[in-house]
Amino acid sequence: MLRQLTAQDVPQLLKVESACQLAPWSDEVFKKCLEAGSTGWVMEFNGNIIGFILILSQVDEVHILNFGVHPLHQHQGWGKQLLTHMLQNIINQGEKFVYLEVRRSNHHAIALYEKMGFNKVGERKDYYVSLDQREDALVFAKRLIIK
Ligand SMILES: CC(C)(COP(=O)(O)OP(=O)(O)OC[C@H]1O[C@@H](n2cnc3c(N)ncnc32)[C@H](O)[C@@H]1OP(=O)(O)O)[C@@H](O)C(=O)NCCC(=O)NCCS
Repeated sequence: MLRQLTAQDVPQLLKVESACQLAPWSDEVFKKCLEAGSTGWVMEFNGNIIGFILILSQVDEVHILNFGVHPLHQHQGWGKQLLTHMLQNIINQGEKFVYLEVRRSNHHAIALYEKMGFNKVGERKDYYVSLDQREDALVFAKRLIIK
């Protein structure tokens, strides 16, 4: 089941996040994002959250802040469903542009974004920093309404 994400979902989001992200967000980061106006959707399977997408709507454009599917449920179409649902919602709201950053090495996610009509529009050097490594981000974007 796909439904709107709420602040009560944060404990379950943390479980998905820690299982699927190289540098998982903390409880505090999720809460701050939601307090700052981020919205999103979760995918539930047998009553448990198995995936989510979190976005921030700005003037005419949407930034995908976080997106993940638990590894036990990956490559079964859930990510594509979450992304498709989010895109339909923001198109209905009149948003014109959506963008995101993705690790250069994240070939699965990049393949999905390209399949969904996103194009690479830039790079951010050393965007992802952890104790022992740095990695560039590729910026992908999709125009939603062509004037
Ligand atoms: C990226 C992610 C959200 C995709 O979710 P998913 O549910 O696995 O994706 P889907 O099953 O809907 O797959 C859609 C497409 O993604 C690509 N893909 C996803 N998993 C893949 C895999 N294991 N191998 C190859 N391609 C894969 C394929 O292009 C696939 O299309 P196909 O099924 O027609 O081959 C998920 O892999 C994930 O959580 N990864 C870790 C966190 C992450 O990278 N988040 C995005 C950060 S920008």
